[in-house]
Amino acid sequence: MTKPIEIIPHTGKLGVLTPGMGAVSTTLYAGVFAARKGIAEPIGSLTQTGRIRLGKRTEGRSPLIRQFVPLAPLDDIVFGGWDPYSDDAYTAAMKAGVLRPEHLEAVGDELRMIKPMKAVFSHRWVSRLEDTDNVMDNGSMMSQVEALIEDMEQFKVEHGCDRLVIVWCGSTEAYEEPSEVHMTLASFEEGLRNNHAHITPSQIYAYAALLAGVPFANGSPNLTVDIPAMTELAARQGVPIAGKDYKTGQTLIKTIIAPGLKARMLGIRGWYSTNILGNRDGEVLDDPENFRSKEVSKLGVLEQILQPELYPQLYGDLYHLVRINYYPPRGDDKEGWDNIDIFGWLGYPMQIKIDFLCKDSILAAPLVLDLALFMDLAQRAGQKGIQEWLSFYFKSPQTGPGLYPENDLFIQLKKLKNTLRHWMGEELITHLGAEYYE
Ligand SMILES: NC(=O)c1ccc[n+]([C@@H]2O[C@H](COP(=O)([O-])OP(=O)(O)OC[C@H]3O[C@@H](n4cnc5c(N)ncnc54)[C@H](O)[C@@H]3O)[C@@H](O)[C@H]2O)c1
Repeated sequence: MTKPIEIIPHTGKLGVLTPGMGAVSTTLYAGVFAARKGIAEPIGSLTQTGRIRLGKRTEGRSPLIRQFVPLAPLDDIVFGGWDPYSDDAYTAAMKAGVLRPEHLEAVGDELRMIKPMKAVFSHRWVSRLEDTDNVMDNGSMMSQVEALIEDMEQFKVEHGCDRLVIVWCGSTEAYEEPSEVHMTLASFEEGLRNNHAHITPSQIYAYAALLAGVPFANGSPNLTVDIPAMTELAARQGVPIAGKDYKTGQTLIKTIIAPGLKARMLGIRGWYSTNILGNRDGEVLDDPENFRSKEVSKLGVLEQILQPELYPQLYGDLYHLVRINYYPPRGDDKEGWDNIDIFGWLGYPMQIKIDFLCKDSILAAPLVLDLALFMDLAQRAGQKGIQEWLSFYFKSPQTGPGLYPENDLFIQLKKLKNTLRHWMGEELITHLGAEYYE
């Protein structure tokens, strides 16, 4: 046993704020309210249903993760958010059409109480959203930062929260590469004062959060906390950050299948992935500038898992294509098709076809819950900056400079669990197991 690290106990209420109160957020809120009332199970959430093995296989110790580490319980969460549309969470959830009306009715009173705060929003970055009616006045970016901090403080007081955490659930912003203004905190702050054209709304939220000492996780592929200015600020303020882009749907399946094929040293010649999706997220991603953000995040995973530079004969010629087609009749019920052209012994070709009829927000909501609870835990455990142990949740995990991200879902899970064991002073599990045979 090693010495556990000091973790400040959870007390009072935890405010979970989401910029973006659309399909994913409202499905999260409704699910947590339903679980609290005992009318649904929080399936898909590692923090709520997952267990962690401790010690030797012979010891039989596998507590629930939420009993092993001091997470905030569901009863102590208060939700809030910002959105450029003024719909309360009940109306927004009805419009998103993910959960059936009978499920929403059962938690309708709680959902109606969640009214969005005015959003920092710009059509330059999300052009497809029209007729917005709940946008902050266009002052300078620095005054928007101040207004967001005031929103957070007010929320804390109004709801009696001890702490806050922010998880970005807003639309995907147009693709952007890091530029000069993102490189240092000083240049970023200068940019905020001058309304710099390359500072996006999500970056303004993130800056405000970190300045207020609130952990920030990014669920979209936007360039947000993954810029040097933000890592500098997070380090200075002692606040955890994590990102980016929830690993759900097709990429989840990809990061389950690809490590398996690689483990057996099977070659892959092509991987064609296409999606049809009819929700608002799909509509935003129909714009090529916004899709580009998603494409970059989706394409990266195979390259890292398969390591073509080490296995050129197996993966050196891989053709990887990802498409998303906006198709309104399907709403949130996404269909993700994959055709994988693989080859085996003596180069003989084979094919795998996957047709995943999934529900995007049903897969994403539990990830937002876990991220909120783990980010809050990390802060109480004195962690600051990039939380790479939360890579498990992301398509495009943020890492320190010079480190490649780990995309294999099972390595990510091991890393997450070993981090918790380490914090709590338990032995790390290496799966060597030689002692059982000595
Ligand atoms: N559902 C999934 O499986 C999944 C997976 C990975 C990533 N994501 C990302 O999560 C995000 C949310 O997805 P969703 O399905 O809920 O989308 P959605 O379109 O239903 O909701 C997004 C909400 O964000 C709001 N918004 C846009 N700009 C904003 C701003 N500047 N400030 C505050 N709110 C803003 C929109 O009005 C909308 O209500 C998207 O970026 C999506 O790409 C979702």
